[in-house]
Amino acid sequence: MPEIGVILMAAGQGTRMRSGLPKVLHPLCGKPLFLHALATARELNPSRIALVIGHGAEQVRLAYSANDASWVIQEQQLGTGHAVLCAENAFHDFTGDVVILSGDVPLIRARTLRAMIEHHRRQKAALTLLTAVLDQPKGYGRILRDERGRLVSIVEEKDAGDAQRKIHEVNAGVYVASAQFVFAALSGVKNHNQQGEYYLPDIVALGLDQGKVIETMRVDDAREMMGVNTREELAVMEKTLRESINQKWLLAGVTLEDPETTYIDEDVSIGKDTVIGPNTHLKGKTVIGERCQIDGSAFLTDAAVGDEVHLRFSVVMSHCRIARGAIIGPFAHLRPGTDLGANVHIGNFVETKEAKLGEGTKANHLTYLGDVTIGRDTNIGAGTITCNYDGFHKYKTEIGERVQVGSDTTLVAPVKLGDDVYVATASTVRHDVPAGALVFNQRDEQVREGWTEQKRRKMKGSGQ
Ligand code: UD1
Ligand code: MG
Repeated sequence: MPEIGVILMAAGQGTRMRSGLPKVLHPLCGKPLFLHALATARELNPSRIALVIGHGAEQVRLAYSANDASWVIQEQQLGTGHAVLCAENAFHDFTGDVVILSGDVPLIRARTLRAMIEHHRRQKAALTLLTAVLDQPKGYGRILRDERGRLVSIVEEKDAGDAQRKIHEVNAGVYVASAQFVFAALSGVKNHNQQGEYYLPDIVALGLDQGKVIETMRVDDAREMMGVNTREELAVMEKTLRESINQKWLLAGVTLEDPETTYIDEDVSIGKDTVIGPNTHLKGKTVIGERCQIDGSAFLTDAAVGDEVHLRFSVVMSHCRIARGAIIGPFAHLRPGTDLGANVHIGNFVETKEAKLGEGTKANHLTYLGDVTIGRDTNIGAGTITCNYDGFHKYKTEIGERVQVGSDTTLVAPVKLGDDVYVATASTVRHDVPAGALVFNQRDEQVREGWTEQKRRKMKGSGQ
């Protein structure tokens, strides 16, 4: 079998996006646009991948950390033909076929690419390109055929005459080509067109002139080849992809109470028999276990949630880990570095950050836990605050196992409470407390009988 190589074009600015961000970095379901096509390309196990970058090259490079691709810089974006030609060096000793993809065509499937490769090899073609028939072909290159239906060339929208613009068969911008053919043909491509660009599709007419076999393959589902050139197209694409992600999870045994308002990024995973309520966002690399319940209005980014966790209504969580059986919310905010043991309870209006809580520990009401480690089976009373910041530095609080922290407690870090400590209500704890001790602040309460009545009389007498 000849080798497979991949060239992904991602150097264009994307003028039609009207954005400071390079087009291929605009996120689609949580992932930069070009990484979608790249992930698909990698499914083909190519022996080499060339990523052509140019506009915002440094930013684009940062978005892909794996080192299985070579970066090709296209200093000036002179067109798609020029972009591919820039990758020639990366393929100088390569005799196989290259799959050429665009960074702005994200929904292309590996299945389609494999079918193209198979067809290409069976037909012993020099080039095989993917086409689609669209109700609204505007913006795409049109496929020109002769009266017998044989491929002649491709004309870009901007260069097309009125009659050509009425053609519904378009170029999907996805190609399989013999490396040898494509680089040789590109050296003959001229930029005599409306945009003054070197068009990759021009190798079709050139190849046909040389008597090469050039094949087309029609894509089954036109959604697969949709390109993103404007924000409007990006929004449509986002909806399309979101629907297919939701469908995948429904088929995998996850209940979505309202798929219309469920937003799941592509790299998220969810265990079966989990039930997800409305207005839930699962972002980044979030992982949800089996038999979880998410009531609704949840915004999770890169969260790892174990089995049988209950996220009650309205929680915001990012970069945190929740072990099995925990109950979170309603109205809780779990910030980065939160690491909750099994069966932990976090209740309403509780905020955590860099907080490690042992199994079975509870903080059920109105609490801030920052830069803290808490052992198992500890109870944090309502209104407990870890005072972790003095305006200059952050300090740590350590709380042992089976500790009872009374309501309205302030723990002034750095401070340590040993196992089985009992903190009386309304304490301010500034010093370490040994295991098993009671800690309280010396404060006698005073009662003055009849005081209110006296005060009222006095105030009336003063005419107020
Ligand atoms: C291109 C095709 C068109 C096809 C459509 C399918 C050309 C000339 N036209 O048009 O026939 O119907 O895709 O989506 O190829 N890029 C570079 N360097 C450049 C120019 C572009 O890397 O100098 C990259 C862009 O970042 C983008 C891709 O190539 O990812 C396609 O470029 P774009 O300008 O979007 O081409 P289209 O007008 O969509
Ligand atoms: Mg495009």
